[in-house]
Amino acid sequence: MLTTLWLLLCFALPVQESSFSISCPNRKHCQLALLSNNDIILQCNAPGAQWQFFLPLKTTWVSNSTTNINMEIMPNGSLFITNPLPYHTGFYHCNDKDGKKVVQYEIDFQDVVSLHITHKDLNQKPLQNESLSLGSKELIFTHWEPWQDCNRCGVPGERKRLGYCYIQESPENPMPCWLYLGDVKLWSSRLRPEMQVEACHIPCTLIDMKYIIFDNFQLRNKMGSAWLTCPLGSIYRPVFWEANNLSLTWKDQLSGKSISTIMDTSNGGSWLQVFQPATYRCFVQQELTAQFNSQSNVDPLRFLSPGKSEQQPEAKETRKEKDSSVLKGLGVMMLVGTVLTLLGCLLKQFRFSRRWKRNKMLLVK
Ligand SMILES: *[C@@H]1O[C@H](CO)[C@@H](O)[C@H](O)[C@H]1NC(C)=O
Ligand SMILES: *[C@@H]1O[C@H](CO)[C@@H](O)[C@H](O)[C@H]1NC(C)=O
Ligand SMILES: *[C@@H]1O[C@H](CO)[C@@H](O)[C@H](O)[C@H]1NC(C)=O
Ligand SMILES: *[C@@H]1O[C@H](CO)[C@@H](O)[C@H](O)[C@H]1NC(C)=O
Repeated sequence: MLTTLWLLLCFALPVQESSFSISCPNRKHCQLALLSNNDIILQCNAPGAQWQFFLPLKTTWVSNSTTNINMEIMPNGSLFITNPLPYHTGFYHCNDKDGKKVVQYEIDFQDVVSLHITHKDLNQKPLQNESLSLGSKELIFTHWEPWQDCNRCGVPGERKRLGYCYIQESPENPMPCWLYLGDVKLWSSRLRPEMQVEACHIPCTLIDMKYIIFDNFQLRNKMGSAWLTCPLGSIYRPVFWEANNLSLTWKDQLSGKSISTIMDTSNGGSWLQVFQPATYRCFVQQELTAQFNSQSNVDPLRFLSPGKSEQQPEAKETRKEKDSSVLKGLGVMMLVGTVLTLLGCLLKQFRFSRRWKRNKMLLVK
């Protein structure tokens, strides 16, 4: 219930702080691949900008951003795309107030669901180059991004890099696979993006212990699990989780050793599914970002106690849990929840816009 309210209210105020942004020099045309299902901001330095979206290889105008509910033009002109899907692959043109061209992006949102994940320390091999014959001799290969930072400092951590599917006819003209293929329907198990992980260990340089505390999450769906969302987490950033101070690693998950937690691969582990009560902490870019404390039985009236004015429901944890349980005192909760959710949204916007300087907060569900 509350989760629905939270979603409604927070969609009205976009959750931009956790998204990653891409820029392209003015008057340039940038072609790139990204992953689907991960929010992204396309920069355009032109307040009052107009955006248009075209499908690849079609000359007809398809729609502009105002007709796509998952796209929003921000006051500074940039385009915020929530949960892009593979069919959002195409051309994104930004024009200024007077209709003059500012930047053009050509983006291939590769399907994160087909992500091929390998771990160097488990001796798992990335995909091989493969040839494709659509006429000329094309080669399918993975274009690797640089390694992201280590996800933890001071203790053993892991780092990942993303690799996008590219096709080239000759070494001079590689193109992201689905921009190359356009309308051509072709299925091949080689046509997929990749993620590679390896162990790392780096010393700490800064210690910032300001973070959000989410109290009292409950394991409450049918499977007795809960989804925790790491604020600011993204597949494009290093994310690290621990449970009762024990590191959760991709190595354990990929080798089937971790049984009580699952990092969601579709967002680089920003969401964690947990099956046991514990204290979970997440780190983004090596910085402690949030702590989640579990509690098996929550008294709804607890949330009414004075002196806890800053409250924030946990947004995405609940996105996946549609079947919310019927709580006692639902009426009271809903009323309180509405007010707190709105407050939470506003606080969230305010807080994150000033970088995430945090205070103690409570989780309301
Ligand atoms: C536009 O605003 C967004 C969100 O506030 C920010 O992430 C982005 O960097 C800004 N873009 C420019 C060009 O300032
Ligand atoms: C975008 O679409 C809206 C609604 O269809 C329309 O009113 C508006 O003029 C369009 N803008 C551009 C730049 O084409
Ligand atoms: C695969 O193809 C790419 C692009 O031509 C090339 O850079 C890379 O070295 C090739 N890898 C192998 C193992 O041949
Ligand atoms: C985790 O570590 C912190 C600080 O090192 C300590 O205060 C806390 O008691 C530990 N928690 C558990 C469950 O071991």
